[in-house]
Amino acid sequence: MLLLNFSLKLKEKFFIIILLFLYIKILYVQKMGKKTRELVKDFADELVKILNKAYADELIAVFYYKHAAKMAKGLNAPNVASALEKAAKDEEEHADELAERIIQLGGEPLGDFGKIVPEANCPKVELPGDWSDLKGILRAAIDAERCAIDVYNKIIEWLRNVGRDPVTLHVIRHIMQEEMEHEEMFETILGEEY
Ligand SMILES: [Fe+2]
Ligand SMILES: [Fe+2]
Repeated sequence: MLLLNFSLKLKEKFFIIILLFLYIKILYVQKMGKKTRELVKDFADELVKILNKAYADELIAVFYYKHAAKMAKGLNAPNVASALEKAAKDEEEHADELAERIIQLGGEPLGDFGKIVPEANCPKVELPGDWSDLKGILRAAIDAERCAIDVYNKIIEWLRNVGRDPVTLHVIRHIMQEEMEHEEMFETILGEEY
Protein backbone atom coordinates (compact mmCIF):
# COMPACT_ATOMS: atom_id res chain seq x y z
CA MET A 1 0.00 0.00 0.00
CA LEU A 2 2.81 2.36 0.95
CA LEU A 3 4.66 1.43 -2.21
CA LEU A 4 1.48 2.06 -4.26
CA ASN A 5 1.04 5.51 -2.67
CA PHE A 6 4.66 6.38 -3.34
CA SER A 7 4.34 5.27 -6.94
CA LEU A 8 1.13 7.26 -7.40
CA LYS A 9 2.84 10.34 -6.02
CA LEU A 10 5.70 9.85 -8.43
CA LYS A 11 3.26 9.59 -11.29
CA GLU A 12 1.45 12.70 -10.06
CA LYS A 13 4.72 14.61 -9.79
CA PHE A 14 5.69 13.53 -13.27
CA PHE A 15 2.28 14.56 -14.60
CA ILE A 16 2.48 17.97 -12.87
CA ILE A 17 5.97 18.57 -14.27
CA ILE A 18 4.75 17.78 -17.79
CA LEU A 19 1.75 20.10 -17.34
CA LEU A 20 4.00 22.87 -16.03
CA PHE A 21 6.35 22.43 -18.96
CA LEU A 22 3.46 22.65 -21.46
CA TYR A 23 2.03 25.71 -19.67
CA ILE A 24 5.38 27.52 -19.72
CA LYS A 25 5.80 26.62 -23.40
CA ILE A 26 2.33 27.97 -24.26
CA LEU A 27 3.01 31.16 -22.26
CA TYR A 28 6.32 31.64 -24.07
CA VAL A 29 4.77 31.15 -27.53
CA GLN A 30 1.88 33.51 -26.66
CA LYS A 31 4.32 36.11 -25.35
CA MET A 32 6.34 35.99 -28.58
CA GLY A 33 3.16 36.36 -30.65
CA LYS A 34 1.89 39.19 -28.48
CA LYS A 35 5.18 41.11 -28.72
CA THR A 36 5.23 40.68 -32.50
CA ARG A 37 1.66 41.97 -32.66
CA GLU A 38 2.56 44.93 -30.44
CA LEU A 39 5.39 45.94 -32.77
CA VAL A 40 3.27 45.86 -35.91
CA LYS A 41 -0.22 46.53 -34.55
CA ASP A 42 -0.68 49.93 -36.25
CA PHE A 43 -0.06 48.64 -39.75
CA ALA A 44 -0.30 44.81 -39.63
CA ASP A 45 -3.58 44.66 -41.62
CA GLU A 46 -2.23 46.86 -44.40
CA LEU A 47 1.05 44.96 -44.46
CA VAL A 48 -0.79 41.64 -44.74
CA LYS A 49 -2.72 43.04 -47.76
CA ILE A 50 0.53 44.21 -49.40
CA LEU A 51 2.24 40.86 -48.79
CA ASN A 52 -0.78 38.96 -50.07
CA LYS A 53 -0.61 40.85 -53.36
CA ALA A 54 3.07 39.90 -53.70
CA TYR A 55 2.12 36.33 -52.75
CA ALA A 56 -0.33 36.31 -55.70
CA ASP A 57 2.45 37.58 -58.02
CA GLU A 58 4.74 34.75 -56.97
CA LEU A 59 2.11 32.04 -57.50
CA ILE A 60 1.33 33.43 -60.97
CA ALA A 61 5.03 33.47 -61.89
CA VAL A 62 5.41 29.82 -60.79
CA PHE A 63 2.43 28.85 -62.99
CA TYR A 64 3.62 30.65 -66.17
CA TYR A 65 7.33 29.81 -65.78
CA LYS A 66 6.61 26.11 -65.32
CA HIS A 67 4.19 26.10 -68.27
CA ALA A 68 6.68 27.90 -70.53
CA ALA A 69 9.51 25.55 -69.41
CA LYS A 70 7.43 22.55 -70.53
CA MET A 71 6.29 24.08 -73.82
CA ALA A 72 9.51 25.79 -75.07
CA LYS A 73 10.66 24.34 -78.40
CA GLY A 74 13.83 24.57 -80.46
CA LEU A 75 17.59 24.09 -80.28
CA ASN A 76 18.11 26.32 -77.25
CA ALA A 77 14.91 25.24 -75.49
CA PRO A 78 16.67 23.11 -72.79
CA ASN A 79 18.69 26.16 -71.65
CA VAL A 80 15.63 28.40 -71.55
CA ALA A 81 13.59 25.69 -69.82
CA SER A 82 16.19 25.11 -67.14
CA ALA A 83 16.40 28.86 -66.37
CA LEU A 84 12.60 29.02 -66.16
CA GLU A 85 12.51 25.97 -63.86
CA LYS A 86 15.19 27.49 -61.63
CA ALA A 87 13.28 30.78 -61.38
CA ALA A 88 9.98 28.92 -60.76
CA LYS A 89 11.58 27.05 -57.85
CA ASP A 90 12.79 30.35 -56.34
CA GLU A 91 9.37 31.99 -56.87
CA GLU A 92 7.75 29.08 -55.04
CA GLU A 93 10.14 29.64 -52.12
CA HIS A 94 9.28 33.35 -52.19
CA ALA A 95 5.57 32.49 -52.00
CA ASP A 96 6.30 30.25 -48.99
CA GLU A 97 8.34 32.95 -47.26
CA LEU A 98 5.59 35.53 -47.82
CA ALA A 99 2.89 33.14 -46.58
CA GLU A 100 4.93 32.40 -43.46
CA ARG A 101 5.33 36.11 -42.69
CA ILE A 102 1.62 36.80 -43.36
CA ILE A 103 0.74 34.12 -40.77
CA GLN A 104 3.27 35.51 -38.26
CA LEU A 105 1.58 38.90 -38.66
CA GLY A 106 -1.76 37.35 -37.73
CA GLY A 107 -3.12 37.24 -41.28
CA GLU A 108 -4.01 34.49 -43.71
CA PRO A 109 -2.42 33.92 -47.12
CA LEU A 110 -4.87 34.08 -50.06
CA GLY A 111 -6.85 30.86 -49.95
CA ASP A 112 -9.27 31.50 -52.81
CA PHE A 113 -7.87 30.55 -56.21
CA GLY A 114 -10.24 33.03 -57.91
CA LYS A 115 -8.63 35.94 -56.06
CA ILE A 116 -5.05 35.23 -57.17
CA VAL A 117 -5.23 37.10 -60.50
CA PRO A 118 -7.36 40.08 -59.36
CA GLU A 119 -5.16 40.62 -56.28
CA ALA A 120 -1.83 40.43 -58.14
CA ASN A 121 0.35 43.45 -58.94
CA CYS A 122 1.73 41.74 -62.08
CA PRO A 123 -1.24 39.64 -63.20
CA LYS A 124 0.18 37.98 -66.30
CA VAL A 125 3.44 36.84 -67.87
CA GLU A 126 2.85 37.90 -71.50
CA LEU A 127 4.18 34.78 -73.23
CA PRO A 128 4.24 34.67 -77.05
CA GLY A 129 1.73 32.34 -78.76
CA ASP A 130 4.58 30.58 -80.61
CA TRP A 131 6.54 28.24 -78.29
CA SER A 132 9.54 28.23 -80.63
CA ASP A 133 9.87 32.00 -80.07
CA LEU A 134 12.43 31.52 -77.29
CA LYS A 135 13.46 35.18 -77.35
CA GLY A 136 9.82 36.15 -76.87
CA ILE A 137 9.57 33.80 -73.88
CA LEU A 138 12.75 35.29 -72.38
CA ARG A 139 11.47 38.86 -72.91
CA ALA A 140 8.22 37.93 -71.15
CA ALA A 141 10.20 36.51 -68.20
CA ILE A 142 12.38 39.65 -68.08
CA ASP A 143 9.23 41.83 -68.03
CA ALA A 144 7.83 39.71 -65.18
CA GLU A 145 11.06 40.02 -63.19
CA ARG A 146 11.16 43.79 -63.74
CA CYS A 147 7.57 44.06 -62.52
CA ALA A 148 8.51 42.01 -59.42
CA ILE A 149 11.57 44.22 -58.77
CA ASP A 150 9.33 47.34 -58.94
CA VAL A 151 6.83 45.76 -56.55
CA TYR A 152 9.47 44.79 -53.97
CA ASN A 153 11.19 48.16 -54.29
CA LYS A 154 7.88 49.88 -53.44
CA ILE A 155 7.32 47.50 -50.51
CA ILE A 156 10.80 48.34 -49.17
CA GLU A 157 10.00 52.07 -49.41
CA TRP A 158 6.70 51.49 -47.61
CA LEU A 159 8.46 49.50 -44.88
CA ARG A 160 10.99 52.29 -44.41
CA ASN A 161 8.46 55.13 -44.32
CA VAL A 162 5.09 53.80 -43.15
CA GLY A 163 5.17 50.40 -41.52
CA ARG A 164 8.57 49.91 -39.95
CA ASP A 165 9.05 46.19 -39.58
CA PRO A 166 12.67 44.98 -39.77
CA VAL A 167 11.69 41.30 -40.00
CA THR A 168 9.50 41.80 -43.09
CA LEU A 169 12.12 44.18 -44.52
CA HIS A 170 14.71 41.40 -44.25
CA VAL A 171 12.41 38.91 -46.04
CA ILE A 172 11.58 41.36 -48.84
CA ARG A 173 15.21 42.40 -49.39
CA HIS A 174 16.21 38.76 -49.76
CA ILE A 175 13.40 38.12 -52.28
CA MET A 176 14.21 41.29 -54.25
CA GLN A 177 17.88 40.27 -54.48
CA GLU A 178 16.80 36.98 -56.10
CA GLU A 179 14.43 38.76 -58.53
CA MET A 180 17.41 40.88 -59.66
CA GLU A 181 19.44 37.70 -60.19
CA HIS A 182 16.57 36.23 -62.26
CA GLU A 183 16.41 39.35 -64.44
CA GLU A 184 20.15 39.12 -65.07
CA MET A 185 19.97 35.37 -65.76
CA PHE A 186 17.23 35.81 -68.41
CA GLU A 187 19.02 38.82 -69.95
CA THR A 188 22.25 36.79 -70.24
CA ILE A 189 20.48 33.93 -72.04
CA LEU A 190 18.67 36.39 -74.33
CA GLY A 191 22.10 37.76 -75.20
CA GLU A 192 20.90 41.07 -76.64
CA GLU A 193 19.79 44.45 -75.39
CA TYR A 194 16.23 44.47 -74.10
FE1 LIG B 1 9.80 35.82 -56.71
FE1 LIG C 1 11.87 36.09 -60.09
